[in-house]
Amino acid sequence: MSDDQYTSDTLNGFTPESTEPRRVVVLISGNGSNLQALIDAQSYDELGGEIIAVVSNQADAYGLKRARDAGINAVALPHREYESREAFDGALIKVIERHEPDLIVLAGFMRMLTPIFVQRFYGRLLNIHPSLLPAYRGLNTHARVLADGAREHGASVHFVTEELDGGPVVIQAAVDITEDDTEESLKDKVHAREHLIYPIAVRWFLEGRLQLGVNGPTLDGTPLPPQGLRLSHADAAEELDEDDE
Ligand code: GAR
Repeated sequence: MSDDQYTSDTLNGFTPESTEPRRVVVLISGNGSNLQALIDAQSYDELGGEIIAVVSNQADAYGLKRARDAGINAVALPHREYESREAFDGALIKVIERHEPDLIVLAGFMRMLTPIFVQRFYGRLLNIHPSLLPAYRGLNTHARVLADGAREHGASVHFVTEELDGGPVVIQAAVDITEDDTEESLKDKVHAREHLIYPIAVRWFLEGRLQLGVNGPTLDGTPLPPQGLRLSHADAAEELDEDDE
């Protein structure tokens, strides 16, 4: 039986599932190397969706150029032009909603978000942070880790809640700290790990595998452990072809 002969009452009124790619808006403030990792994943068809727009609160952010070079809509929304945090976040919400995203990805977006912003996109907001959360929330994590003589550092992807860097963690990648490490060397190692784990987390979300439920994040329906999934130093180093020190 050919397709055009096929008639079925069962399928009357059946609306096929949308095949539209899932839509992502990325927020940045600076260099945008994490954005680049997401763009690269998209170019290999490994992101699970499409970056529709990149928005920066800094007009001269290099990440905006990365977006333009990739043919992605790049929007500068300088926060200094707004009288208050609430006014800026209100404008940001409007820009984001215009693009009807399924997911908003914070990739080095160095702004504290208002509760209204977080509530608007709750469950659809991911952030990457340069530490093994819950350790070292806030700024200057590499310097603080070294000053403390810590043995281990890393990066975490987490859902954003109203608590700064306090939302539930999805995935982490660890770095063993050596005696020779400096702020710069740690920054490089952490960045490499960020570029590894962020596209993975974004893909999980866009494929519907990762969700933020009332009891925390789940992956394929299974609750994630409190600090998310952990990529060990050894596994990350192997993945990244780093020399074993
Ligand atoms: C990244 O290391 C990211 O973890 C950090 O900013 C850097 C941005 O780099 N974010 C935070 O500290 C947020 N609390 P990039 O612009 O090259 O992606």
